[in-house]
Amino acid sequence: MDMEKRRVAVITGGSRGIGAAIARQLAKDGIDVALICSSSREAAEAVCQDCRALGVRAEAYSCDIGAFADAKQVVKEIKEAFGTIDILINNAGINRDQLIAMMKEADFDDVIRTNLKGAFHMIRHCTPIFIRNRGGKIVNISSVAGLMGNAGQANYAASKAGLIGLSKSVARELAGKNVTCNVIAPGFIATDMTKEFDSDNPLVASIPLKRMGRPEDVAAAVAFLVSAGGDYITGEVIRVDGGIAM
Ligand code: NAI
Repeated sequence: MDMEKRRVAVITGGSRGIGAAIARQLAKDGIDVALICSSSREAAEAVCQDCRALGVRAEAYSCDIGAFADAKQVVKEIKEAFGTIDILINNAGINRDQLIAMMKEADFDDVIRTNLKGAFHMIRHCTPIFIRNRGGKIVNISSVAGLMGNAGQANYAASKAGLIGLSKSVARELAGKNVTCNVIAPGFIATDMTKEFDSDNPLVASIPLKRMGRPEDVAAAVAFLVSAGGDYITGEVIRVDGGIAM
């Protein structure tokens, strides 16, 4: 029997889509998972059941990560319940797409608050734990929109580009503490966020690999970064986009 203690991963936005796929993949790799979601606790519970069936501990938490104090509280609860936190996956994200000439202030603020500040809050509250543990792995889910820009997504692209600067700074700052911080930039992945896309969409034809990505494609890259294979990688941005942003 493997007596080594299982690692603990916190995954924001773990109730569905890419976050749910990441949770299942990490569970498959023998990592305990704490899932945070803003809505649909039921959906997160179902993901937890799948993870438990793979033999790990899994718990769901409702929290608005955009609120500094709420994020602090949920990190505290997870640490008390699981004993520690070894891995943080900042995956929660929203979009409020609109052309810049018509974009409302609230559309801009809401997207920055969840996608960028939310990641800052989680990193801020997990870092003291990583420093005490003399190690940790952070993976932030950005987007190719953060690399290339995208018409109608000024707010979203700004938040996702911001995540890259945040990640590289954190990577430099915490490298001496054996904490890595990397970014994954997915392209078009089939989830609720992209449900208006279908395979006939001309955008799909412009993807070199000629298909939308699956949540599992992103999860596989996350699993690599948090595995021993990712130990010497920090401050990196990995595109999982079928080649669209090359
Ligand atoms: P989704 O819309 O299916 O799921 C989003 C998750 O985030 C949900 O679990 C939701 O509960 C959670 N969430 C939203 N706001 C929150 C808040 N304030 N506090 C806590 N949790 C919150 O999204 P999807 O498609 O799975 O995307 C996941 C991440 O990947 C997002 O950051 C998204 O921007 C990014 N991404 C997605 C792409 C796609 O094509 N689907 C492409 C590139 C990036």
